[in-house]
Amino acid sequence: MSKISSVKGMNDLLPAELVRWHRLEAAMRDRFDRYGYGELRTPLLEETRLFARSIGDETDIVGKEMYTFPDRKGKKQLSLRPEGTASAVRAYIQHSVHGAEPVTRWWYFGPMYRHERVQAGRYRQFYQVGAEALGSADPSLEAEVISLFDGFLRQDLGLGEVELQVNNLGDSEDRKAYAAALVAHLDGHLEVLCEDCRRRKVENPLRTLDCKVPGCQPVMEAAPRLEDHLGEAARVHFAEVLSLLDALGIAWVRNHRLVRGLDYYNRTCFEFVAGGLGAQNTVCAGGRYDGLVAQLGGPKTPAVGFAAGIERLVSLMSDAAPEDAPELVAVVPVGTEVFPACLRLVEELRREGLRVDFDPRRGSLKSQMRRADKLGARVALVIGEDELAAGRVPAKDLRLEGAEPEELALADLHASLRRWFKERR
Ligand code: HAM
Repeated sequence: MSKISSVKGMNDLLPAELVRWHRLEAAMRDRFDRYGYGELRTPLLEETRLFARSIGDETDIVGKEMYTFPDRKGKKQLSLRPEGTASAVRAYIQHSVHGAEPVTRWWYFGPMYRHERVQAGRYRQFYQVGAEALGSADPSLEAEVISLFDGFLRQDLGLGEVELQVNNLGDSEDRKAYAAALVAHLDGHLEVLCEDCRRRKVENPLRTLDCKVPGCQPVMEAAPRLEDHLGEAARVHFAEVLSLLDALGIAWVRNHRLVRGLDYYNRTCFEFVAGGLGAQNTVCAGGRYDGLVAQLGGPKTPAVGFAAGIERLVSLMSDAAPEDAPELVAVVPVGTEVFPACLRLVEELRREGLRVDFDPRRGSLKSQMRRADKLGARVALVIGEDELAAGRVPAKDLRLEGAEPEELALADLHASLRRWFKERR
């Protein structure tokens, strides 16, 4: 029979790999808590029209990357969520959150689905952590979400080599005027443009600026700049964002060709880009989206947000174990007679809060010690009938070759073990 594997681009995460994920998740929860962001959990499935209306019909995501199928009764089209902002805004409107609080700060973590070409750092199921701050048009809201993520990267994850790129997308009239100028420029160079750029010129001209195909680069470099088509209000707003970032000591780089693959942005957009990641090097992206809440039927509500790809972040993190991880105790029974008593002891120690391993295979002393070593146990308690009868067990330090085991009383063993660990820290 042929073996069944996971769906292409959708990966299992095994325990050893999740060590870094857990470190990231713990830091993330703690940081959001300090910034006053509450956690939001929304369904993985939404009506397709939610994404069509928010991300945009003409975008790659909605046009060709969503996992879409009819609901069982065939009346509605459903899609696996390709991102989190649309669902957050839907929930914000559905629960009339705007009526209850003037400024809302939410974060979320979970899997997203896009049928993209799979390569290193690009998957069809991937995890995002995202934040959405709704209810203020003030540039300080951009400064806040950028500062939050910047600190998360540099302080919490120790990833200093990531560059923050920013751009001003202006307001929708600005972009319309600019799109016309850009299309006129592209029309003059049609013969050298790649197929994608020719398609995007018609569907979503600003996206051509993002093109990485070498042949298109001279055309894009000579293209008119969005900056030169921006209105006064958008310029003043963006200048204030930059000056707040400066005031917070956050380094940024202006990238005039930074445009986003989702339609809802206006004014500020940004990306955090990592040098060492190859083609899929954006670890986080976001921006302002002042029109989206109203577009989805809610009250006019300005907003800012970002989302970061967890797989990309984790691949940059080192393996260093957190220093305060509790150490592992291996309980090693000698002979099958003591097996039940040892199992009881294991459960007692676990109930008292210790991390304890127990080999269920009833193997030899040698094979049990090999396993303890492999798991990185700090101490082995080797227990035979004599030890049980005497009520004392030898604690062998597995990191100190040749060290004399210390005898610990079986009564109150958890307390003696804690003392044992403390003395060796
Ligand atoms: P996005 O740029 O589509 O924005 O995705 C944000 C991040 O998710 C990317 O920078 C990348 O790190 C990660 N990502 C995206 N696609 C994949 C993939 N196929 N495989 C692995 N990682 C991926 C959004 O999703 C917006 N909702 C961000 C936002 C929130 N804007 C405002 N609020």
